[in-house]
Amino acid sequence: MASQVCKSASRAARSLLSASKASRFHSQGRAVGAAAAVSLSSKVPFWSSSHGRGGSGSGSASSWISGAIALPAAAYMFQDQEVHAAELERTFIAIKPDGVQRGLISEIISRFERKGYKLVGIKVVIPSKDFAKQHYHDLKERPFFDGLCDFLSSGPVIAMVWEGQGVITYGRKLIGATDPQKSEPGTIRGDLAVVVGRNIIHGSDGPETAKDEIKLWFKPEELVSFTSNAEKWIYGAN
Ligand code: RTP
Ligand code: MG
Repeated sequence: MASQVCKSASRAARSLLSASKASRFHSQGRAVGAAAAVSLSSKVPFWSSSHGRGGSGSGSASSWISGAIALPAAAYMFQDQEVHAAELERTFIAIKPDGVQRGLISEIISRFERKGYKLVGIKVVIPSKDFAKQHYHDLKERPFFDGLCDFLSSGPVIAMVWEGQGVITYGRKLIGATDPQKSEPGTIRGDLAVVVGRNIIHGSDGPETAKDEIKLWFKPEELVSFTSNAEKWIYGAN
């Protein structure tokens, strides 16, 4: 019985999901998930008092909860995950040769990971000077351009693509101001760098740049799309 209802919940969520392919935002996804739950209510009479609260469900208070109550929430989570895997924005982040040489790779990755962003592409590259010039092409008139490109191509760079809601703008906040003397404590450059010429990390500065930089550094097949188990705990509205 429980497995039949489960299949039915999953089918309801899937059909509602395919009917909502145009929906872009989390709140819309959630509304569809709620609709999936409601569509089951004639078969599942006792679900409504506690569904969707997001607790861990352990302990005696919830031990009486039958599969029937948990199912609409399961449909809701399934649907939300599909929306997030498909729709969230991406940014290009690079740990520059100074960050790599100083052993800061794991420190930098962990700041993005702990925030709740998802790593969908990563590789170690020693860029050529021409490639560095392409990457920083918008700075070609600046006096430091040549030295900057020499530096970026001087050793291994960790090239990454991170995904998540608001990751382009918030990624820049995690990184901090260009000049580490002006970066706030708590930011990557604020905590880990001292001068502008050795500021250890790069992050795309807007949606267009992010798109161009991801395309420059990665082939499409080098990026993955997946639903992380943590997503249902990172995203949600009450
Ligand atoms: P990035 O592109 O590396 O993430 O840095 P950003 O957006 O914060 O700053 P941007 O203006 O794009 O500068 C790119 C990199 O050039 C070096 N720079 N040197 N006055 C200087 O010597 C100077 N100004 C900028 C920095 O390494 C900066 O990250
Ligand atoms: Mg920049």
